[in-house]
Amino acid sequence: MHPASVVRATKRACVKPWVIGLITFMSLIVLAVCIGLIVHYVRYNQRRTYNYYSTLSFTSDKLYDDFGREASKNFTEMSQRIESMVKKAFHKSPLKGEIVKAHIIRFSKEENGVLAHMLLIFRFRSTEDPETINIIIQRVLHEQLHDAVGPPELDPESVEIKKINKTETDNFLNNCCGTRRNKTTRQSLRIVGGTPVEEGEWPWQASLQWDGIHRCGATLINGTWLVSAAHCFRMYKDPARWTASFGVTLYPPKMRQGIRRIIVHEKYKYPSHDYDISVAELSSPVPYTNAVHRVCLPDASHEFRPGDDMFVTGFGALQNDGNSQNHLRQVRVKHIATEICNEPQVYNNTITPRMLCAGSLRGKRDACQGDSGGPLVSADARDIWYLAGIVSWGDECGQPNKPGVYTRVTAVRDWIAAQTGI
Ligand code: ARG
Repeated sequence: MHPASVVRATKRACVKPWVIGLITFMSLIVLAVCIGLIVHYVRYNQRRTYNYYSTLSFTSDKLYDDFGREASKNFTEMSQRIESMVKKAFHKSPLKGEIVKAHIIRFSKEENGVLAHMLLIFRFRSTEDPETINIIIQRVLHEQLHDAVGPPELDPESVEIKKINKTETDNFLNNCCGTRRNKTTRQSLRIVGGTPVEEGEWPWQASLQWDGIHRCGATLINGTWLVSAAHCFRMYKDPARWTASFGVTLYPPKMRQGIRRIIVHEKYKYPSHDYDISVAELSSPVPYTNAVHRVCLPDASHEFRPGDDMFVTGFGALQNDGNSQNHLRQVRVKHIATEICNEPQVYNNTITPRMLCAGSLRGKRDACQGDSGGPLVSADARDIWYLAGIVSWGDECGQPNKPGVYTRVTAVRDWIAAQTGI
């Protein structure tokens, strides 16, 4: 090595201690500033949820009786109209990015019009105080709803809003039929071989148990009534030995209730699967929670379209002749047209007007033994879930060209109403 470079190297190596101190000090300052900036950024971007109960009066040329009944087609249509008018109002305002949900929970009649009761849910990024936010929301609704084109005719001056907390919001939603939690991205999971669901995903699912052993699924349609299949009660009839449990596991259950009364459709005649429906009355009402509440019943005139996605859930076997499962499972299935289901290679004309086919002609997605009586559900445009079918029968489980067959709820809707008043 050349002597000069040796000298230079030695010089560079002995940096003065105060220089090291200075560099350390500066680095610490830079670090502190960075941490400060990150903390500020995270805090600013942290969105907080604000819930409001709001009322809004309107007039409509439709009769209140036409849309006043929850889950009817007209109720859904009217709700959807008003919800989209309200959302549009916010989209034209500075609160554009913060509105998450406008959800009608009910209508009530007034002297000269109708009152819509609505939940408004916002996710705010700012650290604005709640009072200011109240004022902004109210002002947006007053100003922007003036331009909303009906029908119905909204009265922007009538808008009232009240901040409510998370529990109150949950209670309002749990009292509505067909609402659910945890609708995170879902893959297609099947009862034949799928993975378990989370609490609150299918809150209307019940297990019917004979002497404490799971026999069938069932669906909660109000605080005291379950819908199930008729064939579940073919051998076992005494209500006193039946119980219903709720929640995503059989053991331990979230809730358990006795059965007071079982009503089987009078036209159900084993071994035919026609009219495979029953209703069971609980010995006392279940309180609605995030984990347990009711599904919506479709009107008799409601049309579920073939090709629509549906979900079936249950504690049944993962394969033909398998065992029941302790943890609730789900599978996404397609609604199959009766004409297709009645083709010779499928069920060869055995599908009656009281039956509905769902699954996949390629097989794999199906209900199975132990799922009987449980729900097949489908969502509407507002993400409200309706009971479309009751698990009834099938040729083995998940076989090609042998989809699941369900009791068609719309075909027995009037019978359910006659028995339960729902
Ligand atoms: N009957 C069966 C039960 O009692 C349900 C059968 C459903 N089968 C089907 N492949 N989807 O649990």
